[in-house]
This record gives sequence, C-alpha cells and structure tokens, in this order.
Amino acid sequence: MHSPVGIRDVAERAGVSPGTVSNVLNRPEKVSAATRAKVEEAVRELGFVRHGSASTLRAGHSKTIGLSVIDIGNPFFTDVTAGVEEVASELGYAVILSNSAGSRTKEERNLLVLAEQRVRGVLITPSDEDPTRLDRLRDRGIRVVLVDHPAHRADQCSVAVNDIVGGTTAVSHLLSGGAESIAYVTGPLTIRQCIDRRVGAERALGGAPLRVIEMAAMTPRAGQQAAAKMIAEGDLPDAIFCANDLLALGMLRGLTHAGVRVPDDVALIGYDDIDFAAASAVSLSSIRQPTHQLGRVATELLLDECDHPDTHAHQQIMFQPELVIRESTR
Ligand code: RIB
Repeated sequence: MHSPVGIRDVAERAGVSPGTVSNVLNRPEKVSAATRAKVEEAVRELGFVRHGSASTLRAGHSKTIGLSVIDIGNPFFTDVTAGVEEVASELGYAVILSNSAGSRTKEERNLLVLAEQRVRGVLITPSDEDPTRLDRLRDRGIRVVLVDHPAHRADQCSVAVNDIVGGTTAVSHLLSGGAESIAYVTGPLTIRQCIDRRVGAERALGGAPLRVIEMAAMTPRAGQQAAAKMIAEGDLPDAIFCANDLLALGMLRGLTHAGVRVPDDVALIGYDDIDFAAASAVSLSSIRQPTHQLGRVATELLLDECDHPDTHAHQQIMFQPELVIRESTR
C-alpha cells in the first residue's frame, strides 16, 4: 500500500519548498498567484489531502462551525440549516450539525464535542435561557451567535424573529374571523419562542382569557393528543392558535378524524409556514418566519466575527413575522 502523499511530495512536484506548500494551504494570501497555481496543480496531480487534525493543531482551530438546534425533525430547522450551510460553504467552512432535542444535558454534551473538534464558532438555538454553557464556549475562544433567540447583551450577536408580534398577529387574525373563545396549544413553556408567542397572543386579547394547553413536545403527535384531550373534555374553542405548524397539522388531523370541521367548527392557525402547511388537505394558515434568511444572516455574523474580530461589530438582528392566510381560518 502506498504511503499517503505528503507535503514534501507536493513541494518536489511543484518545484518549491515544503514551507511554500504549507503557506499555500494555510496562508494563501502570502503566496503569489503563479506559485499558488503550481502548488494547486501538484496537489491535484498527486491527490494530496491534508491531515485535518495536523492543520487544526497548527492553526488552533478547524475550518468548521457548529450548529446546535432544538429539533432536527422540525422542517423549520432544516430550512435554517440549509441557510447556514449555504453561507458556510461559500466561505470555505464545513458545518457540524447537532441536535439537543430540547435537552439541556444533551446540548451540553454536544457543545463539549464541538469544542473538542476545535470549531471556529457555534450557532445555537439554546434549549433554555441559561447562558452559562455559552459562556464556557467563549472562555475557550469559540465565538457564539444565537439563532432564533434574541440576545440580551450587547457583546452577543443574535438573529431572531419577533415572536411576540407573531403571537399577536395570529390571534388578531382569529379575532377578525369572529372567534370568541381561543385556545393556545404550545410546546414546553421553558422554550422562549413558546413563551413569547403566548405573550403576543394575550396582548391581542387585551385581558380576555386565553386557554393554554401545554404539551411536552412540538410535534404532530402532540397536536393530535391535544385535539383528543379537548374533544374528550367536550370543550372545544371556536379557534386554536398552535405554537408551530407541526402541532397545528397534528391538531388538524385529530379534529378532522373526530368529525370536527376546520374552519367551519374550529378555525386553526400555526406558526413557521413550513412547506407542509400549504400542502395540507385543509391548507394551514400560519405565521411565516424568514427561516432560510435566519440561517444565512446568523452564519454571516458568526464568520465575520471569526475572520475579522478586530473590525466585527456585534448585532442583535430581529426580523418581523408575516401572516399567511389559507383555508384553515375564516
Ligand atoms: O423550536 C420550536 C419552534 O421555535 C419551531 O417550530 C420554530 O417556530 C422555532 O421558532
């Protein structure tokens, strides 16, 4: 078996010193275009592949960033990840995706693995409000940008969507359709997005009661379970706001299976505007988030902070949500 092609083999083939090859690989700005072309040609001809951990040790970090999301089963995060990967690959970075599944313990373990991999920075939708895990990353020199979660300190970048406005928009739309009794079906009220959407919903009601049904997960199954619970109690509202589209699609299935007509008996609105919302048998009204853009902008902020720390200016960017009206509301 041939020994792997090394830097010395590339140097000999290109007619330069091993140090010049190392500069082309790690500090290409220090090498003339003609020399870079000769070395790159030799790399291609010989099939040279640098040893990742060696270059990582030398540079003190790898050309990778970490992305920690709450639920990789949610198309919302799939779209965010696509935006992240688009910008990262444009700038020569790989992305290591990790899923906290809403668990602080799992998230902490994933962040440790990312630190051991010497990632340049981490994009994270935190599983809760406790910032200590992120402080530990910063202490290791790893930059952090919050995604879909507003930062409350000037030295922390974040990209989020105004979920309070989103909640108000959703319930105002239900009220405009004549709703008199409204229920909010949500995931765990430890998740900041769920908390803020509830705050917005209650603002729209101006003190009128909002029935809150908290589920352990934000999945279609949880939405179906919430429907069954409300039907079993014989206490259906005339409108339901679900904290995300997955809950709403499950709710729609549960209501429909029980013979409840949407929107004639119960109006229904979700949140995110994932692709399945429009494709549903009764197309789902929703609150659209600029998901792909969230991923792109967060990555641009992170890599600017990583690659240009001296000129980087921290930003807390807040996008506005948008109402999308379909068949599930009047
Ligand atoms: O992660 C839970 C929810 O928060 C997602 O569905 C999306 O709405 C995010 O903002």
